[in-house]
Amino acid sequence: MKLTLSIIKPDAVKRDLIGKINTMIEDKSIKIVGQKMIKLSLEDAQMFYSVHKDRAFYQDLCNYMISGPIVVQVLSGKDVIVKYRELMGATNPANAEDNTIRKSYGVSVEENSVHGSDSEENAKIEIDFFFSKREIYNF
Ligand code: CDP
Ligand code: MG
Repeated sequence: MKLTLSIIKPDAVKRDLIGKINTMIEDKSIKIVGQKMIKLSLEDAQMFYSVHKDRAFYQDLCNYMISGPIVVQVLSGKDVIVKYRELMGATNPANAEDNTIRKSYGVSVEENSVHGSDSEENAKIEIDFFFSKREIYNF
């Protein structure tokens, strides 16, 4: 079983969408094997999104990510990295397919409700960033 890191972003937590997003995840037979609500510091947000540090949207993105609590999750399943990216939908909710999380709940290209790791290498880095071993249930 592979693992990926998911984040339910501040816009979605604020609108009480944790349960609805988790239902969409579980309905795809993806298991939530780690989950906690946290509030990022600016330093954490800057570090987490450091691959985007030269992009015009970086500062705004970091400020948005610290604007309220987030839910970080470890998801498990066969091909879960690709499967969860598909369930999330395109970065811009306007371009996302029907029945994706971003199409259903995203507000804008920035406030797009969820994050998901984009590769096995990044999934490992991102899971280690937020979770200790004892916080991940090993089914
Ligand atoms: O999240 P995803 O991998 O789909 O997209 P990304 O290109 O890795 O961008 C990371 C995040 O930056 C997005 O999820 C958006 O929240 C934000 N973003 C933005 O605010 N404006 C853009 N033009 C592109 C991304
Ligand atoms: Mg990305």
